[in-house]
Amino acid sequence: MNRPHLYALILLSLVASSAVGLAQAPSLAIHVDHPTAKVSPMLYGLMTEEINFSYDGGLYPELVRDRTIGADWQALAHWTMVARGHSSVEISADDHAGPSAALPRSLKVSVTEASEAAPAGVQNDGFWGIPVRPQMTYTGSFYAKTDSAGVPVTVSIVNDQTGAIAASTTVMGLTGAWKQYTFTLRAGQVSTTANNHLLLTVTRPATIWFDLVSLFPPTYHGRRYGNRIDLMEKLAAMHPAFLRLPGGNYLEGDHISERFEWKKTIGPLVDRPTHPSPWHYRSSDGMGLFEYLQWCEDLKIEPVLAVYAGYSMMQEHVEPGPALEPYIQDALDEIEFVSGNVHTKWGAERAKNGHPAPFPLHYVEIGNEDFFDRSGSYDGRYAQYYKAIKQRYPELQLIATAPIKSMKPDVLDEHFYMSAEKSFSDATHYDKVDRNGPKIFVGEWATREGQPTPNLQAALADAAWMTGMERNSDVIIMASYAPLFVNVNPGGMQWETDLIGYDALTSYGSPSYWAQVLFANHLGTEVVASTLTNAGPRVYASVTRDDKQRRLFVKLVNGTSEEQPIHIELDGVVNVKRDATIISLSGKSPNATNTLTNPDAIVPVKHGVQVAGPKFDQGLEPYSINVLELRY
Ligand code: AHR
Repeated sequence: MNRPHLYALILLSLVASSAVGLAQAPSLAIHVDHPTAKVSPMLYGLMTEEINFSYDGGLYPELVRDRTIGADWQALAHWTMVARGHSSVEISADDHAGPSAALPRSLKVSVTEASEAAPAGVQNDGFWGIPVRPQMTYTGSFYAKTDSAGVPVTVSIVNDQTGAIAASTTVMGLTGAWKQYTFTLRAGQVSTTANNHLLLTVTRPATIWFDLVSLFPPTYHGRRYGNRIDLMEKLAAMHPAFLRLPGGNYLEGDHISERFEWKKTIGPLVDRPTHPSPWHYRSSDGMGLFEYLQWCEDLKIEPVLAVYAGYSMMQEHVEPGPALEPYIQDALDEIEFVSGNVHTKWGAERAKNGHPAPFPLHYVEIGNEDFFDRSGSYDGRYAQYYKAIKQRYPELQLIATAPIKSMKPDVLDEHFYMSAEKSFSDATHYDKVDRNGPKIFVGEWATREGQPTPNLQAALADAAWMTGMERNSDVIIMASYAPLFVNVNPGGMQWETDLIGYDALTSYGSPSYWAQVLFANHLGTEVVASTLTNAGPRVYASVTRDDKQRRLFVKLVNGTSEEQPIHIELDGVVNVKRDATIISLSGKSPNATNTLTNPDAIVPVKHGVQVAGPKFDQGLEPYSINVLELRY
């Protein structure tokens, strides 16, 4: 080939490749003055249940495990006898001598030999340890009676390895009758560790029966029996609008007799019988209906109340008709407990708990995942609940958990547990949804990659999926990731891929947690028309605005391993402020993740960016979730 020919060819191929390059550069056209829908102000919320030790051993920070001497096992779990030096003790579960009808079983500690030098008693190993920090204060209590009136009981928190006492106090005044004793423990200048246990000892022979032995660390807003502080702070940072409660499968139970019976979860702890949860451990029911509501109040959010609807997971159901009536009455009572005034029976009961003001309530969900009910009874059950609830509370929106043929439900709850591949490829799932159908509540969803908590790949796929929910948030009025929590200790997890991980001492948010934080904190009030062109696979966008604040939120997801330059063009706007910000969540590998020991490997980073005008280019880092905030 002669030279001019060769140059021409090279030139041609350069032009062609730059044309291909141009054609392939993704570009996002945003029509700022063209809102297509209102963004639901309730779009992002929380969904929880007792799974993965979410409450006991998690958010409900009781430090004593098996505090009510559980009814499920013959051998004592988590309680061990302790006999130092020349002392002697036996411990057993006593089924004849509980402090209340709800708690018939107690812990019998029979000390036959003990002295100051050789104390004896019992210890509890907590939920994978008991956390100790310098100067930490604990609030404790137990119910007790004895055959040796006046026997002092020493309560200590003791290091498992060294035997060093972190905190100790003595409880006096035990008698032959059941009574509750309270105490405070304060740690000294000790090292921070969870390797501790709780020890109850005496220094003379005596038989003592214990029950409802409780030890609490400081709690969020200082509530008695309140929530764990670091976990509540993480939830608050998510800026949620609602809490879907109390489940999930936890609402239904494996059997009808094991459903979440809300009436057995309110009032004094000593009157709560506790119950088996479908996640294979017994729930203390310390997180009862009232505590759920306080949790909502603390976060300034509203409950989405799921009521039991006559179906439990082992294919047990209640036929629509008269048999269902008592369950419906229970649901009506529950709604009254939440939202009735003090002159109603159950509103007055709530007032007795110290909360005369009704809690806000707009959404009630009838059951959970009733598409699993093979009897086909859900249509009839939903219709019966609907009629009864609407008659008393016409303003409530009633959520169905499976498609209903006989009527159009107010809202339909749809669940999605997906691989990353599926979340990416189905990110447009709701773009063509029937606008005349029921409103949608995506009540449980997650990309399940990474365990115990999702990795960056899952977060990227989550973010892609969220762009779809956000674009369609005229129809999708609410969404909640699930499950929310996992205790990462061995045996703590029943469900892989959970948003927030923790042990007894500390916690961390997964990359998916941070994706939630980013989206919910930059919600906007209206969806803005936008067109993404030339975007290869795994590049996604959604745009919302807050016109009052004159702010535009451009969410951009780059799920690829390459940096993506994106050309952005705004129209319908007179002036775009030069100073903008971009918050990016990114990492070097899709497998990158956060852990207890490396909690901040993947966290959002905020940068200022200068925007030249309504047309500009923005680079997206590989594997990144971005919120570009523009002012106009
Ligand atoms: O989130 C875990 C479980 O998944 C929920 O309890 C149930 O509703 C769903 O099947």
